[in-house]
Amino acid sequence: MSTNKEVTLRINGKDEAANIPPHRTLLEALRGLGHADVKCGCEKGDCGACAVLIDGEAVDSCLTLAHTVAGREITTLHGLGTADNPHPLQQSFSELGASQCGFCTPGMIIASESLLRKNPNPSDEDLRIALSGNLCRCTGYVKIFEAVNAAAAVMRNTGEKQ
Ligand code: FES
Ligand code: FES
Repeated sequence: MSTNKEVTLRINGKDEAANIPPHRTLLEALRGLGHADVKCGCEKGDCGACAVLIDGEAVDSCLTLAHTVAGREITTLHGLGTADNPHPLQQSFSELGASQCGFCTPGMIIASESLLRKNPNPSDEDLRIALSGNLCRCTGYVKIFEAVNAAAAVMRNTGEKQ
């Protein structure tokens, strides 16, 4: 007998239905629905690659059961901006070389966006603490911190808020 249950997830402003078991993680559900911008890394809360915003707060989707976030606002990287209309964080990561292989980038940008919504002018320490749950094996982090600071300045100047 199937233990699947219908759930409606609100992803990037659109409702999407999934028929999944109660133990399915949000990461598995999102990727099953085609949201490949949510990366699957460690699946145990260590790397931050799977981060999404839930009601504006960065959360590791591998540690969240999909059924527990029904009806809440889930935002993935693609919900922040597109290639034609990038979010300032996407723009600065691209321009300042903060993304190399790119695997950590969606989670880094989601964690950064979560920080900047609460704290538009973070100190270096604030930034390091906010991104401490996101691992990058390529960049050495310096360019990532530069990119977040550059985007934060743009967002302060333009008053941009998601
Ligand atoms: S895949 Fe979720 S924290 Fe690594
Ligand atoms: S750019 Fe490769 S892991 Fe961060």
